Amino acid sequence: MYNILTLNKISPIGLEKFDKNKYSYASEIENPDAVLVRSASMHEMEFSPSLKAIARAGAGVNNIPLDKCSEAGIVVFNTPGANANAVKELVICSLLLSSRKIVPAIEWAKGLKGEGENVAKLAEKGKSQFVGPELKGKKLGVIGLGAIGILVANAAIHLGMEVYGYDPYISVDAAWGLSRSVKHAKTLGEVYENSDYITIHVPSTPETKGMINSESIQTMKHGVRIMNFARGDLVVKEDILAALDEKAVKVYITDFLEDEFLDHPGVIGLPHLGASTPESEDNCAVMAADELIDFLENGNITNS
Ligand code: MLT
Repeated sequence: MYNILTLNKISPIGLEKFDKNKYSYASEIENPDAVLVRSASMHEMEFSPSLKAIARAGAGVNNIPLDKCSEAGIVVFNTPGANANAVKELVICSLLLSSRKIVPAIEWAKGLKGEGENVAKLAEKGKSQFVGPELKGKKLGVIGLGAIGILVANAAIHLGMEVYGYDPYISVDAAWGLSRSVKHAKTLGEVYENSDYITIHVPSTPETKGMINSESIQTMKHGVRIMNFARGDLVVKEDILAALDEKAVKVYITDFLEDEFLDHPGVIGLPHLGASTPESEDNCAVMAADELIDFLENGNITNS
């Protein structure tokens, strides 16, 4: 019998993969053989000597102490691509939110409550403050051409945007499934220089941490709109706030909240919602469960 410790709510469709005759799973379990986790931090956790594998139902593995795992010989899996469509849809939604002033317009419209039959007239009068540009013809820089970046780039092409793709590890020409219309930016500088909108899709590593900072922002177009659905620490918080105040950055949409973002007029902050769809939660849970089963039963290691 294998014991699986589940550290977060995992979709039932994933848990059903574990044959009851071979596996037991629970949120508290002694001597687990494996852990199935979503976003809970495992950095402070004591590892039982029985632990052989951790599967993250998601792409990023920042909540797992990788050094400690490699020292202990614990295999770490993730589920790249399983939530890519969910994130892509929210990024596309954010491109529109950053342009069309939808959030402030909704808030303003709520203030018309109680105006009775004057509502329509007041709406007509007030709407000019919410004019915002179309995406068609604007330039989008996509930094990172993994599963999510490729989907975002292709969807933006369909919206009529001119897309610059950049990836530090794979070239645009080699990125399988990428529309031929995506332009190959050879340097990050080229993306920064050209883009009206920038969306980041790289993991947080020592090389990428803080990549959006006062220095890089200086090389971007004045009034650029930036989306961050990758990791909060890719952006230096103080620098983005200063750039927003100076209007060097027009809008910052982030899936990673910070206290200072909550009441800043230039920030649209979301509570890490990128992968929060039932479809993506199911996909991640199934992929993570399959990886653990294949490893525990056959010794196969995929996506580690
Ligand atoms: C991921 O790492 O896959 C995303 O940040 C989504 C998530 O953690 O739920």
